[in-house]
Amino acid sequence: MAILKAIRGFQVSNILGIETSCDDTAAAVVESGSIRSSVVSSQDEVHGAYGGVVPELASREHVRNLLPVIDAALGRAGRTLSEIDGIAVTCGPGLLGSLLVGLSAAKGIALAQGIPLVGVNHLEGHLLSVLIERSVPFPFLALVVSGGHTSLHLARALGNYALIGRTRDDAAGEAFDKAAKILGLGYPGGREIDRVARLGDPTAVRFPRAKLKTKGYDFSFSGLKTAVRHYVSGAPSVPVTDVAASVQEALVDMLVETSCAAAVDLGVTCLVVVGGVSANSRLRARLTGKGADCGLDVVFPSIPLCTDNAAMIAYAGWCRFERGSVDDLDLGAEADLPLEPGWHS
Ligand code: KG4
Ligand code: ZN
Repeated sequence: MAILKAIRGFQVSNILGIETSCDDTAAAVVESGSIRSSVVSSQDEVHGAYGGVVPELASREHVRNLLPVIDAALGRAGRTLSEIDGIAVTCGPGLLGSLLVGLSAAKGIALAQGIPLVGVNHLEGHLLSVLIERSVPFPFLALVVSGGHTSLHLARALGNYALIGRTRDDAAGEAFDKAAKILGLGYPGGREIDRVARLGDPTAVRFPRAKLKTKGYDFSFSGLKTAVRHYVSGAPSVPVTDVAASVQEALVDMLVETSCAAAVDLGVTCLVVVGGVSANSRLRARLTGKGADCGLDVVFPSIPLCTDNAAMIAYAGWCRFERGSVDDLDLGAEADLPLEPGWHS
C-alpha cells in the first residue's frame, strides 16, 4: 500500500484493463486513452448448453483463461508488463466469484510490479465506452442496456451520474435471451434474434408493450417474456423469423419510447446507448430515426465495444488516474455496486 501511495502523482499512460464481471474474460491495453489491444475470450460454448450463465463455471473459466488473455493483450499491444504503469479492474457490479478472479489477478500484478490500481464500475465502463471513439459533450443521457442491466443515467460530468430510470424486473438483454430460448434459437439469444429477425415481419404478432402507470422512466420486460411463452405454447403457424422480429420490435419500442422521452424532458441534446444490446441493428436504426425527429444526437459505440470488453475498463480507469484517483489493495468486489453521483469520489 505504501508503495502504491508513493507512486501517486506519477503519469499513468499505459493502462492494463481487466474485466471478468460475468462470462467474458477480457484484457486490454489503453495508452493515453487510445486502444492498443483488446482481447475477449468468450465462454458462450460453456454456458450455451445450459441456456444461461452458470456462475460457478464462469469463475472456473476465468481462472483458466485470464493469464493467457492478459499475455495476449500485452503481446498485441507490443508491451511487456514492465511497460504498464497502471491497472484498471472491474470491481462490480457482477457475479461475485467472477469479479474476484479479475480483482485478485489485478492486485497481484499491481503489487508485484509496484504500480497503482483503480477499481472500475462496470456500468461506468460501458457508459464511457463511446468516448474512446469520439467526443461527446456533457451533460448527456446514457441508456445502459445489457444482459444484466437496463437503466438510464444523466451523465453530468466524469464520475457524476444520476439514475433516471431502471428496469423493474428483467434486463432487456435477459428478455432477448429468454425469448430466444423459448423460440429455440441459439445462445446468446440477443444476437440470434437480431440475425433471424432480419428475415421476418415485425408486425406479424402484436406483443404487449409495458406502459408503466407511475411517473418516471422505468422499464419492465417480464410481461413480454410471459406473452412469448403463451404465444409459442399455442403452437402457432407463424414462421419463427416473424415471431423473432415481432419480439424484437416490442423490446425496441419500449427502449426507444422511454429513453427518447427522458432525453427530451431532461433537455439534453445527446443520447448515448451502450452495453451488449446496443449492438442490436433494429435498436440502432430505430433510435437514430426517432432521435433525428426529436433533435437528439444518438451515439453508439462500435460493435466490439458494445458487449463486455476490457478496453472500456482500461479507458474508464485512465480517466480516474488522470483525476488523481488510486485505490488501495484492500479494494473489494461488490456484486450490486451502484453507479450513483460520486460513488468513487
Ligand atoms: O454488455 P454485455 O456483453 O454483458 C452484460 O454486461 O450483461 O451484454 C450481453 C447481452 C446479452 O443479453 C446478449 O444477448 C445481448 O447483450 N446482445 C444483443 C445483441 N448482441 C448482444 N441483444 C440484441 N441484439 C444484439 N445484436
Ligand atoms: Zn456489460
